[in-house]
Amino acid sequence: MTTEIITGIAELTTNAGDGPADVDANRVHEAALVIEDGRIVWLGRASDAPAADHQTDVGGRAVLPGWVDTHTHLVFAGDRSAEFETRMAGGKYAAGGIATTVAATRAATEEELIAGAVRLRTEALLQGTTFLEAKTGYALDVDGEARSARAAAQVADVVTFLGAHLVPQGIDRRDYLDLVTGPMLAAVAPYASYIDAFCEVGAFDAEETREVLLAGRAAGLGVRVHGNQLGESGGVRLAVELGAASVDHCNHLSAADIDLLAGSSTVATLLPACDLSTREPFPPARALIDAGAAIALATNCNPGTSYTTSMGYCVATAVLQMRLTIAEAVWGATRGAALAVDREDGPDAAGSLRLGGLANLQVLDAPSVSHLAYRPGVPLTAAVWHRGVRVPSAPQL
Ligand code: NIG
Repeated sequence: MTTEIITGIAELTTNAGDGPADVDANRVHEAALVIEDGRIVWLGRASDAPAADHQTDVGGRAVLPGWVDTHTHLVFAGDRSAEFETRMAGGKYAAGGIATTVAATRAATEEELIAGAVRLRTEALLQGTTFLEAKTGYALDVDGEARSARAAAQVADVVTFLGAHLVPQGIDRRDYLDLVTGPMLAAVAPYASYIDAFCEVGAFDAEETREVLLAGRAAGLGVRVHGNQLGESGGVRLAVELGAASVDHCNHLSAADIDLLAGSSTVATLLPACDLSTREPFPPARALIDAGAAIALATNCNPGTSYTTSMGYCVATAVLQMRLTIAEAVWGATRGAALAVDREDGPDAAGSLRLGGLANLQVLDAPSVSHLAYRPGVPLTAAVWHRGVRVPSAPQL
């Protein structure tokens, strides 16, 4: 097996510390890293580096773990730019817009759905995302949700079943809940590791959400929740009560919600690109962190509320608008995010660079991670290694 050494690393973010504040443990300056068989077999100060078969000199750039994007809805068809334009002219986002994407997704072939998801997965990878979660939730019938789950499994590291996204038109509410917790769950479970529900006015209330999540848990799935996006929906309380891996959105939190999250292992996954696109107030990120809650950042890539695959944009927004430090934002988009998908540890841990760990990493066209927010909007991904293999750059037209 051949070895490859990456040299010329001005700043290596390993995330070896206990948290984002542990900057000395998380970063090595003037570093090098050796990859063998897809895994990191050495990392440290360049002056101590061993010999290797091949060398890539990154020329004084920053290297950090690949992004861990734990909230996407990549499997869909259609376009909602008209809805977006209306919203930017003052319209309000409501859960009902999901129905537009459901109609387009049901009308698409499985090949079209896979091609769309592959296009977005590739777009994300080229911007440094080496781990990605994808949800179902735009078909909302048994065959369609199973088809979406199969497509998601082809592009994502983790698949989440979101049959409880909206009650589709033409079906009784109780009948739909029975479908989601019965035949639909049975058809999707073989492809999924988590179950999720949209706990919000216009979607599912807290009791309905509980029923769906408990059915998923009984089928062996982990639990996550879309909560408190448009109001104080009770989603956060329920997520903490059920020990959910994450509760996502968290725009409208009471002081009690913040205390609950701080005292729990549930990660608050914040979605800044979605908040800009829906004009919802940003979540109280500083209050969450200061209270001791674990947070993650994710894109929420979907055609309705957040049509971006750019984790760099989310990191920049979290720093510039939500007042996270650079270290907190980078941690939240890497190792903090890994916690939200139960991948913080173990042989396939995501979001950190460690001996024996997967060589999932990105090189920035910058000497330090601070440039992610210091140069917002600039495409800074210079190179990406996924499972030890350098990702070819985007094909030119
Ligand atoms: O996470 N909030 C619920 N689901 C998606 C978007 C749904 C849509 O409008 O298509 C989200 O924002």
